[in-house]
Amino acid sequence: MPWWKERVFYQIYPRSFMDSNGDGIGDLRGIIDRLDYLKELGIGAVWLCPVYDSPNVDNGYDIRDYEKIMSDFGSMDDFEELLREMHKRDIKLIMDLVVNHSSDEHRWFKESAASKDNPYRDFYFWRDGKEGKEPNNWASFFTPSAWSFDERTGQWYLHLFAEKQPDLNWENVSLRREIYEMINRWLDRGIDGFRMDVITCIAKDPALPDGKGTPYAFSPEYFAFQPKLHEYLREMRKKCFDGRDCMCVGEASFVNTGNADSLVGDGRELDLIFQFDLMDMDGRNGNKWDPIPFDLMRFKQIIDRWQQAIDWNTLFLGNHDQPRIVSRFGNTGTEELRTRSAKCLATAMYLLRGTPFIYQGEELGMTNFPFEDESQLRDVESINWLNRNRDNEEWAWRGIRAKGRDNARTPMQWDSTEYGGFSTVKPWIDVNPDYMTVNAEDEDKDEDSVLNYYKRIIKLRNSSDVFKSGTFKLLYPEHEQLFAYERCFEGENVRVVCNLSGQGCKLPEKTDGKILLSNCEPAEILPPYGAVVYGNL
Ligand code: NOJ
Ligand code: CA
Repeated sequence: MPWWKERVFYQIYPRSFMDSNGDGIGDLRGIIDRLDYLKELGIGAVWLCPVYDSPNVDNGYDIRDYEKIMSDFGSMDDFEELLREMHKRDIKLIMDLVVNHSSDEHRWFKESAASKDNPYRDFYFWRDGKEGKEPNNWASFFTPSAWSFDERTGQWYLHLFAEKQPDLNWENVSLRREIYEMINRWLDRGIDGFRMDVITCIAKDPALPDGKGTPYAFSPEYFAFQPKLHEYLREMRKKCFDGRDCMCVGEASFVNTGNADSLVGDGRELDLIFQFDLMDMDGRNGNKWDPIPFDLMRFKQIIDRWQQAIDWNTLFLGNHDQPRIVSRFGNTGTEELRTRSAKCLATAMYLLRGTPFIYQGEELGMTNFPFEDESQLRDVESINWLNRNRDNEEWAWRGIRAKGRDNARTPMQWDSTEYGGFSTVKPWIDVNPDYMTVNAEDEDKDEDSVLNYYKRIIKLRNSSDVFKSGTFKLLYPEHEQLFAYERCFEGENVRVVCNLSGQGCKLPEKTDGKILLSNCEPAEILPPYGAVVYGNL
């Protein structure tokens, strides 16, 4: 079994993990200082969000130089030390690969924008306007239009994200060559793979047709899963990954159970994909900013569908683009409910068939931030959203509080000292005020903490092949409170029973077998967010 199926991943958002030099910003040396914490937790691999040189319009997802470390974070020497220290502890490292777009401050874009006949012109999408307006009506993820006008050459350039994140034109052979060379140099430095940012969008319909809608239309039908995507991914695999012991997990925006096989099926272009059906389930009419209540039936259907659809899933409920999982899918009404529901969610997810990805702070049961004021926001997406909804601010705020990405980007809470032990000065983004109770040091001492439960669940997962190789079967699909499933492998079987509701729940049947793990006193009635794992191991 390849290592990336056996290990539990941990996602680090470097800006908010640990500040080692007292400037209020997390950094690489801070990560080095906390590697023993990760080891203790049972982590076998880390996905490190971008640490490359960047003007930071989108917190590092706008890269100015792919082979320089952002000065806020340290130097290439620090990076090499980090990698060595991780490998010393048998922790693998995968880096973010952001090649759908670069920063507009990248050397390529500066050249490209300089003149129409610059050799780099074609590295990006430049087009003439239509009657003084954008070349097409595409909306961007972050701004109304996906095009910006550049006075110098009188043409428009495409950006699916912020204005300062121009999309790279993968049709261009020289661009692809440069990207592959860059990837190979990183792999030569010894890293173990990549998480590929919005990789399913790198190929665009060459005609760039208008989408349906006015004035702007969000048009993934023309920029996601285009036929050339597969050509590029296969080429990249051949030029960079074949023959190396590394892995790639793609952020597979717009993937569905019908087309997932084209990425991770037999012709394997990627090893793993992140799919977002669970992340998209609580936005009204697909609008993430208009949250609707948790729907357990849909949750179960989505998980069941994906467990059947592909051989190996990624298992996650949160990341740096999503709110905190306990606030979103659990219950933060009381301290008891917060801890129990945080444990329940981990039990529900991480014993499924696939590779777990834990997002930093989740293992402490960290919660959404109680945003009150615009000055507390840092995320370009939330700020743009607020600016676009000045006529309905209260509604916009409701969305930002529930779904804004800054919720997950507040500093790691290491202890109960000022700033949660993250830094000695006021950090770049406020610390969640709950750090006095929710923090690693105190939780480490408390046997019943979320942190110690995470350690137990990772140990349990690693204790038997049934969690890795076992089959999956959803139990009680119609039950309105329980999410339960069975895993079986060579005579071993395990039943995971989670009450994902705020009411007590009578168990539908008596289950034999030892209790392998539980977040409550086992009884006939499972308390709100109670979870029990039975098995014959
Ligand atoms: C997905 C990343 O996870 C997100 O943080 C970023 O804003 C966009 N891609 C653009 O790179
Ligand atoms: Ca720092």
